Formats: sequence, structure tokens, C-alpha cells
Amino acid sequence: MKAGTIIPKQKGSLEIMDMDIPEISENEVLVKVKMLGLDGTDKELGNGLYGEAPKGQGFLIPGHESIGTVEKVGSAVNGISVGDTVVATVRRPDDCINCKSGESDMCIKGDYLERGIKGENGYMAEYYKEKQEYLVKIPESISEAAVMLEPLSIAEKAVKQVFEVQKRMVWQPKNAIVLGTGTVGLFAAMILRLNGIDVVSVDRTENNPIKDNIYSKMGITHINSMDTPIEELPAKLGKRIDIAVELTGSPKAVASALNLPSINGVLCLLSVTGESYSENIDIGEFNYNMVLGNKVVVGSVNSNISHFIKGVQDMASIESSNPGLLKSMITRRIRLEDFSYDMLSDREQIKNVIVMG
Ligand code: BGC
Ligand code: ZN
Repeated sequence: MKAGTIIPKQKGSLEIMDMDIPEISENEVLVKVKMLGLDGTDKELGNGLYGEAPKGQGFLIPGHESIGTVEKVGSAVNGISVGDTVVATVRRPDDCINCKSGESDMCIKGDYLERGIKGENGYMAEYYKEKQEYLVKIPESISEAAVMLEPLSIAEKAVKQVFEVQKRMVWQPKNAIVLGTGTVGLFAAMILRLNGIDVVSVDRTENNPIKDNIYSKMGITHINSMDTPIEELPAKLGKRIDIAVELTGSPKAVASALNLPSINGVLCLLSVTGESYSENIDIGEFNYNMVLGNKVVVGSVNSNISHFIKGVQDMASIESSNPGLLKSMITRRIRLEDFSYDMLSDREQIKNVIVMG
């Protein structure tokens, strides 16, 4: 089979290699990859900034967002059959208590692996094998959109964190601001809407027909931060900000976001910003506002299978009320032979997808 490979920490090392189709054992499933989604982490992998090859293997098969069809099942597998459409989760547990309880996204030890990212091959291949416990079955209605189930699961986990935090009080949050309208940003806004929250999405785009359509169908308000800087949002909106979610990838935006939440509000930080960046922040004022306002800043990374399962329900519900809306986020489809990591710098795209086979 054909597989894309990179040498982690080496920019420009992408190569298509020929290798054997994986052999499955009795509790494993062989999956034929249909599509592979790419994100900011892939861009970092391509730039040689991130990633780790599996032990004893000089290269890594990247790719952690996929959808595929079950080709073969081991004799001990039940509940998954040949022909089913499936998505695989990303993180594989170590032996810490959270990992052992199915919450490897909350690993406390750090020895977890991530398929396509850290120490385990991913899905940029014609086939991969996996244990049943890491596979989620996908209904027909979302069999294309679910190539984005992994990024959706990241947003599901983040929104869950926010609601868990707000269980502190009888009072319930009503208004949210989402900074950033990449795939995960759009999903975070949509999930908050499904939960009945008023959402304002903020980015630096003038108009984008696909995003504008999502805002109008989902009842999201869009604000361009070129017109209204983040600092001015609370005054401009003239209402409380109960929830802020930051996923612009810009540390400067993170600094501005720190002051967004109103009293009892929560800020969820969700973008992995590699670069070092300093800003003069009035820590006295920040602390004063945090303490007197019972505010919380929470970081969130990765997701576990429960977030994928919730994601399937939410995708199906968005699909049934707005057919085709999710799929419209897949703005570019390419073949493996034509893929290069440079493509991921095109800011016009929402989701880039490799069509396998
Ligand atoms: C992936 C996560 C992963 C994170 C850090 C993200 O792009 O979606 O699953 O935990 O990168 O490696
Ligand atoms: Zn762990």
C-alpha cells in the first residue's frame, strides 16, 4: 500500500512509500482510508517543528483526522463489521489513572502516544489497523462530513470543560464569544449554539461565503476584529461575556482574551501557539478581576472517545436541520500524490482533505 511519511523535526521530508498492508490480530480491525483531514498540527509536522516517530522507526506516517471503511475484522471483534464507516481516535493511553479510565485526553503522566503525531503511525496511508475500542461507527448521513469528526471532538471536549466549570453555580451562562473561525472555531461556535448559547464569532475575515452561510444557518453573529479589536468587544456588544473560547493560534489574541470574561465567566484556551511571545500585562489588574470576579481560565487539549460519540450525535443533528452545511467546510480535496505541506498555508481554505485511493 501507499503511505505518506515524514522524518519528524525535518522540514521537507514528506515522501510516499510503498509498504505492506498491516496484518490484523483477533481483536483488531483493518480500515481502508477514504479521506484524511489536515490541520495546524500537520502544518507544524510538515515544518519540522513537532512530532515523534514510533520507537525504532526512522519515519512517521502522519495524519490524525480520518474516515474509512472497515475492510477486515479479527475473530474476537464484535459490533463492527466489514463495510462499516469508521473514524479512529488519536491518543493512545499510558498507565496513569486517567488513561486507564478512558480519559487519555486528561493524561497526568505524559507518556501517551498520538497516532500521526507522537510515537505512533497515523492515517496518511491506504490502510491502517486499530483495536475496536478506538473506533467510532459513523452513520450514512454524515459519512463525508465525519472526516472532520476529530476536530469536532476537540470542540466537544472544550465546550464540555466550560460547562463543567460553570456547574459551580445555579446561574447558567447565556452568551459566548469564540475567537477564531478555523475548523475547530466554527465547530465550537456551532456546538455552543446547539446548547442554546448566544454566540459571537470573531476573526479577521471581511466576508467568506461558506462561513457567512454557517453564521446565518446556525444563528451566529460575526464580528471582524479588524473593525472591532478584541479589547473593545465587551463595550461594543454591551452584554455579559459568560464564555470566551480562544482558538486563533495567535498569542497576541490570547493576551487580549484574558480580559474578556465577565464576572463568573470562563475563558477556554484551545490553540497550540508554539512561538514565544511577550506582552506587558498588568498582572495586578488581571488578578484583581479574576479574584473579585470568580473567573476561570481553562486550557483544553485532545479528546477521548466520549467526545467523538457526542460529536457524531451533534453532526447528525446539524446535518438533519442543515443538509450539506458541514460538508461545505471541506474546501479543498487533493490526491495523496499531489499533496504538499505548503498547501496548508493557504488561509482561504477551511478544511483541506486528502482523498485516498
Ligand atoms: C489534535 C489533538 C492533539 C493535539 C496535540 C491536535 O491537532 O487534534 O488530538 O492532542 O494536536 O498533539
Ligand atoms: Zn496517562
